[in-house]
Amino acid sequence: AVVGRTVSHESADLHVTGAALYTDDLLARAPGVLHAWPVQAPHAHARLTALRTAPALGVDGVVTVLTAADVRGVNDGGIHHDEPLFPDEVCYAGQAVCWVLGESLEAARKGSDAVEVEYEPLPSILTLREAIDAGSFQGQQPTVSRGDAAAALERAPRRFTGELEIGGQEHFYLETHAALAQVDEAGQVFVQSSTQHPSETQEIVAHVLGLSSSEVTVQSLRMGGAFGGKEMQPHGLAAVAALGAVTTGRPVRLRLTRTQDMTMTGKRHPFHATWDVGFDDEGRLLALRATLTADGGWSLDLSQPVLGRALCHVDNAYFIPDVEVHGRIAKTNKTSQTAFRGFGGPQGMLVIEDILGRCAPALGIDPAALRRQNFYLPGQSTPYAQPVRHVERLHEIWQQLADRADVARRQAAVEAFNAGHEHVKRGLAVTPVKFGISFNLTAFNQAGALVHVYKDGSVLINHGGTEMGQGLHTKMRQVAATALGVPLETVRLAPTRTDKVPNTSATAASSGADLNGGAVKNACEQIRTRLAEVAARRLGVHPGDVRFGDGTVTGLGTETGLSFAEVVGTAYTDRVPLFAAGYYRTEGLHWDSTRMQGEPFKYFAYGAAATEVEVDGFTGAYRFLRTDIVHDVGDSLSPLVDRGQIEGGFVQGAGWLTLEELRWDLSDGPGRGRLATQAASTYKLPSFSEMPEELNVHLYERATEPGVVYGSKAVGEPPLMLAFSVREALRQAASAFGPPGHVVQLASPATPEAVYWAIEDARAAV
Ligand code: MTE
Ligand code: MOS
Repeated sequence: AVVGRTVSHESADLHVTGAALYTDDLLARAPGVLHAWPVQAPHAHARLTALRTAPALGVDGVVTVLTAADVRGVNDGGIHHDEPLFPDEVCYAGQAVCWVLGESLEAARKGSDAVEVEYEPLPSILTLREAIDAGSFQGQQPTVSRGDAAAALERAPRRFTGELEIGGQEHFYLETHAALAQVDEAGQVFVQSSTQHPSETQEIVAHVLGLSSSEVTVQSLRMGGAFGGKEMQPHGLAAVAALGAVTTGRPVRLRLTRTQDMTMTGKRHPFHATWDVGFDDEGRLLALRATLTADGGWSLDLSQPVLGRALCHVDNAYFIPDVEVHGRIAKTNKTSQTAFRGFGGPQGMLVIEDILGRCAPALGIDPAALRRQNFYLPGQSTPYAQPVRHVERLHEIWQQLADRADVARRQAAVEAFNAGHEHVKRGLAVTPVKFGISFNLTAFNQAGALVHVYKDGSVLINHGGTEMGQGLHTKMRQVAATALGVPLETVRLAPTRTDKVPNTSATAASSGADLNGGAVKNACEQIRTRLAEVAARRLGVHPGDVRFGDGTVTGLGTETGLSFAEVVGTAYTDRVPLFAAGYYRTEGLHWDSTRMQGEPFKYFAYGAAATEVEVDGFTGAYRFLRTDIVHDVGDSLSPLVDRGQIEGGFVQGAGWLTLEELRWDLSDGPGRGRLATQAASTYKLPSFSEMPEELNVHLYERATEPGVVYGSKAVGEPPLMLAFSVREALRQAASAFGPPGHVVQLASPATPEAVYWAIEDARAAV
């Protein structure tokens, strides 16, 4: 079968040679294109008292300035109607108040400098602490609970409380946000957008323009990375470009510079958590009570489902009998925080991993043993009442990892090393991942595809998923080639467009291959069933005895076969349709979002990682010596792609937990609310030198996942959380500077500075 074969990414050659086109490259094909540049507000919170665009119109090359007066439909760029595109009130520093269109980018930029805006500054709320103190919240406040956590905590022999602040994360996709809009003679709008969710981009563009969805087509060719940052944030930008095209009759190109992207668009939610946990004398978890507050920024965006996923993942891999976890969303004067790989899951899981990392020394139990002994057992359910099926896989993965990474021997070596070194210490930590796959909102778990077979036997697929580098299109080609029994080379993929497959879900929640793969397979099987009848007549066999494979069609018990193209040719002459619309919906899901109970996930993805680090006691600087990973991707559709996702996810998680630190100006001066880390110079991303010196990835074997396309499992997000092992290893290395049993509190991100303070704290305890 073509699925399961090791093939490289379908655009790998184009990526590395620079030939791959991205949305903004297409402007060369749009004669007369205009360029858009925003006027960004300098205040975190202010009322607009005057906006004079006339001076900009005097700048050479400026064509127009788009303001609220140009909006023909609704002045709103979001789905909750809380994101005015052209605001009267500025809600964060960097927010666009209007957009200048120019013949050149330079003209638009100069024009934006000439626009005169007057503001009346208002009081602002920036940090989670300020928001909590002021009671500044937005959206619903859900609770996940089981049993009676308060009573169980009262009875618990060992009880601990704590607090944790979790930093956000900039997506830093290589391709910044981009849209290119064109309007035809009938007023129909075509927008090419770097979007993970073309259907929703289409809806928002239609709302803003006052058009129906059928008059707007959105195409997503490919994205140069998205990571959740292009799930909802592209809509308003695409709408501005479309509005410009409709207003001027000319194509409009909008692409953010890196600093515009960082100061205008949402990031991973920072979180704050307070917790109260109870164990028995052997270290078994008895109860957890916690409150998680997400920093949503100025508008809701995806904060509610992000928080929901955080609450559904505080348990990670651990059975906690009595649970009560509250969630709320702070409203602050920052960019509207949004989806980011893991979608709140990482923040939720970090809470329990932090709890276990902090409580292990206090309980006098080895952290890895504490984790292992609290794993779910077969038959147990999550606090939201979903049975944790196949959890024995996690138990096996943990054991395999212990063997492959030689954990016991190396743990002893780390201890010997630490005993012999005063100023440099090592730590080795092992952490598990259990991550729910499917959108919590059941309705999103559907997908469509459109498959064409041409008379020469070649195949063209459209599906509703978008390509952001994750290899979805590669997998879809493999699925189609397998389902039709044709060579991979004969299958081509067309760009994702809303006029081919309608009403699609975002390519998100790691479910792109599960959903679209189901739809592509379904379409191919319809065609294959029709072709089997055609072939059966020619071969003189029963249609059930026709076999497709490798471009040939054979009948059971017949000597000769036909080529796929021959069968297709006959089908055409016999007037048998050679295209089909495929559809897939995930069965067995149900979710009550008011009670936060049900079975929102089709299955869980499992994995575990062991990381060894070395920490310098003088500076807090560290090195990642070695990471071993065992991860469950089911029967891999495309092993090389999956390996890349695991490595990339892990490193991105390690970046979030260690180097990447967002800082805002919290002063009371005129710069208050300004993002201080607005470029690569101040925002540190992991690079090759921050990769583990040795990184071993093993795909868990004999892992067929029943009920999912060809037995595979989603891979996009779960590996990010394997990076908890890095953070816990840093904690253990820092604790080695203190007395046994000392509890190390580590800030997140655990920057070298944060590690330094943790070491100082440990030393002071001696
Ligand atoms: N991999 C690359 N190279 N680029 C990306 O932007 N996004 C991640 C993940 N892997 C991303 C990526 C996120 S947030 C998700 S939800 C999934 O890919 C989405 O794709 P899938 O559903 O096809 O796995
Ligand atoms: Mo991914 S955060 O679900 O786009």
